[in-house]
Amino acid sequence: MSFVKSLFRTKPMDNYPLRQTSLRRCLSAFDLTLMGIGAIVGAGIFVLTGIAAATKAGPAVIFSYILSGLACGFTAFAYAELSSSIGGCGSAYGYSFAGLGELIAWLIGWDLLLEYSVACAAVAIGWSGYVSNVFTAIGIPIPKALTTNPFEGGIVNLPAMIIILLLTYLLSAGIRESARINKLVVFIKLAVIVLFIVLAAFHFNPSANWHPFLPFGFSGIASGAALVFFAYIGFDAVSTAAEEAVNPQRDLPRGIIASLLICTLLYIIVAALLTAAVPYTELNVSSPITYALLKMGYKFGGAIVALGAIAGLSTVILVMYYGLTRIFLAMSRDGLLPSVLAAVNAKTQTPIRIIVIAGIVMAIVAGLTPIQRVAELTNIGTLAAFTLVSLGVLVLRYTKPNMPRPFKTPLSPIVPILGILLCGYLMASLSPVTWESFLIWTLIGLVVYFGYSRSRSVLSKKSGF
Ligand code: ALA
Repeated sequence: MSFVKSLFRTKPMDNYPLRQTSLRRCLSAFDLTLMGIGAIVGAGIFVLTGIAAATKAGPAVIFSYILSGLACGFTAFAYAELSSSIGGCGSAYGYSFAGLGELIAWLIGWDLLLEYSVACAAVAIGWSGYVSNVFTAIGIPIPKALTTNPFEGGIVNLPAMIIILLLTYLLSAGIRESARINKLVVFIKLAVIVLFIVLAAFHFNPSANWHPFLPFGFSGIASGAALVFFAYIGFDAVSTAAEEAVNPQRDLPRGIIASLLICTLLYIIVAALLTAAVPYTELNVSSPITYALLKMGYKFGGAIVALGAIAGLSTVILVMYYGLTRIFLAMSRDGLLPSVLAAVNAKTQTPIRIIVIAGIVMAIVAGLTPIQRVAELTNIGTLAAFTLVSLGVLVLRYTKPNMPRPFKTPLSPIVPILGILLCGYLMASLSPVTWESFLIWTLIGLVVYFGYSRSRSVLSKKSGF
């Protein structure tokens, strides 16, 4: 019995209002919204829209975006409720440790490690696509063998590896992301998307390009949604800023929901314009937005958008990489991963060991794998974590009915249940290969937990079982 009990041992909840923090509370709801947009808008819209339209859903990729946006919307309410009522910056890992017990927290943390690390690799591959197009445009093409992974006929995707190693260096050197640069890049990203919208609106030609609208049937919409789900990942990263927000209980929910809402609207508009301006069959390319603009005759516009995309994709990798190290650190501090990794370098004040190990692994993945494969793997890990977050809301409403909840998920339990069902449905729409990799990842996670983490957990020493 004590074995089963030990799997559900919980950490004490953070006392939100009184929580001490060594970080400066300086982020407003507006800053948090920008941070969300900074983490959300990336390879999903700049790369995967084209792949999803060409290979999964056709022009109906618009509905794929709506479906995925709904799944994320339901989950965002769950995140908003938990982030407003449970403190700490460990994101979903921290919430579940306080509410659902150690085993579920471990599984969520393990999934988040997959989400953030593979997302970095996928975005780096997208970054490489845009960078090599720019080099080609200025007359210095990088040999294809050095920008393509071995599964697609190349040797290695070198630019993708280089950007990860560069960011590994920056993060370990302790570079503090300046809020100003971050904001600037977010505005550049939004500006190039708006530029695309304005230019593509002149070429809106649904009568030519939306026939057929549903070339892959309804199942295409679902498998397209499971792929473009990637475009929404990142709103959850807002929840990691709990300790830097001026008024986290009020502003985290606002930041999470507002950033998601803005991105959903932009995505639907971009998907509609892209597929109406260019035949979907031509969009299976590494930089579809630039491709479309060049096809419409906007050379300069294409170049501006490519440069904006490169800047934007870099910050997505940076934020995701940073989130990864935070979650890794939280798990190491709790003893679930080797605490020796949590050592912070005295000079740079960064967890160098974690940063370097993660950087090397991600660089290898980015150099050798196709983007679609890694993006799907990111998605399944994230969807699993999202499902557990909605479940967390339901369980906590039952086990801790009187916990103060400054933000309450509307229409509970309907909204969390819909979140679980939709995320589960999207997971089911992912390919068998992705499922295989995910199950292997989960199995390794369980072996590590029962073979290592459970007995070394800081809680096992405190609770005595
Ligand atoms: N949502 C992020 C992107 O699309 C991960 O790049």
